[in-house]
Formats: sequence, structure tokens, C-alpha cells
Amino acid sequence: MNITTELLDPHNEALLKKLFSWETDPKIHPLITPVFKEEDQGKVVSFEKFKARHLESGNYTSEIFVLFADNIPVGNFSLMMDPGHLFLKEKGTAWLGLTIGESDYWGTGVAARAMEFFEKRALHHKAHRIELGVFEFNPRAQKFYKKLGFVEIGRLEKFTWKDGQRFDDIRMEKRLN
Ligand SMILES: CC(C)(COP(=O)(O)OP(=O)(O)OC[C@H]1O[C@@H](n2cnc3c(N)ncnc32)[C@H](O)[C@@H]1OP(=O)(O)O)[C@@H](O)C(=O)NCCC(=O)NCCS
Repeated sequence: MNITTELLDPHNEALLKKLFSWETDPKIHPLITPVFKEEDQGKVVSFEKFKARHLESGNYTSEIFVLFADNIPVGNFSLMMDPGHLFLKEKGTAWLGLTIGESDYWGTGVAARAMEFFEKRALHHKAHRIELGVFEFNPRAQKFYKKLGFVEIGRLEKFTWKDGQRFDDIRMEKRLN
């Protein structure tokens, strides 16, 4: 399988729609989107709001790469340098977001390849550590990150709602050489 990446052009409506379909997939949505209010459980944003969010530019580096397996879009990863929501506010931190949107590609090694691309990109931005948040009810992702050398550094307790309960956001880090 040939895995390639492409920096997302937010004006590329076809690709953006693909990302939107993953983000709003009921199987994936709760794993990647925090729900801060009980009444917001199960709600998804409109495509217009999703698009507007991708056209905004923050005051820090923020990039999204689409992952292709043999030219088929299968997922994406995002990188933010030193965003305000870090657990450990250490300058030179790359914040990771990762979604393999096509679940047929889970367990195929695509996600691990994505992490290689991410680490290279993080080093390109002079990061010396990576931080991520993974919800308490996502053991698959926790195991995946641990396999790659990430360790837990703290928890944001009762961070997100799911099925009428609140769950922690587990923060993990990996130090880069
Ligand atoms: C998280 C994600 C990137 C991991 O990629 P992946 O290809 O599924 O990961 P892998 O299969 O290499 O590793 C997952 C491991 O967890 C194991 N696993 C699967 N289900 C599990 C469960 N319910 N409990 C514990 N471990 C589980 C797998 O067997 C595998 O371990 P192994 O390598 O020893 O067999 C991918 O599943 C994904 O994008 N999921 C949806 C979005 C998401 O959760 N993103 C992360 C948000 S922080």
C-alpha cells in the first residue's frame, strides 16, 4: 500500500466534504469531538460551519494533512504548534489530532505511517515534544499511542459527555530527539 499525504487546501470542497463525512460519522464523532454540555450530545455542526472553521487562521501554526492509501483518501492528521489548550505549556510542542476516517484501514499500519509523517512535520516546526488528548472511553487509540512511545502526563477530569456520562481527557506526550 502506498501511503501519501497532502496539505489540505480548505477551498478543495470535495476533500473537505470527505473530512466532514468522517467527523460526523456517528462511530468516529464521539472519539474526536469534545462535548462540553450534556444537551450537545449527538449534535453535529453544519458543513458551512465546518468549512468556516477550516478557513479561519489562528495566531499559531495550524495544518491539516490528508492521508491517501493508493490515492484513496482514508484519514487526516492535524498539527498545531503551541496552542493554548496544552496540558504542559512548554514552548516547542506540536499538538496532534489523528483520524483514520475509513475504518477498513484500522489495523493496517496506515495510522503508524501517519505518525511518522506527523513526527517529521513536528521536527520541521522545531518541536521537541508532541502532546495529544485521548478520551477515557477510547482504549484502541490509547493502546495505539502507547505502542508508539507516548506516556500519560495528566488528565482533564470529566472533560467530555458521552451516553449521559462525563469522561476524562487523557493527555499523553512523546519527547522528540
Ligand atoms: C486511533 C487510530 C488512529 C488507531 O489506528 P489503528 O490502525 O486502529 O491502530 P492499531 O490497530 O495499529 O492499534 C490499535 C491497537 O489497539 C487494539 N485494540 C483494538 N480495539 C481495542 C479495544 N477495544 N481495547 C483495547 N485495545 C484495542 C488493537 O488490537 C491494536 O493492538 P495490537 O497492535 O496489539 O493488535 C484509529 O483507530 C482511528 O483513527 N480511530 C478513530 C478516530 C480516533 O479514535 N482518533 C484518535 C483520537 S485521540
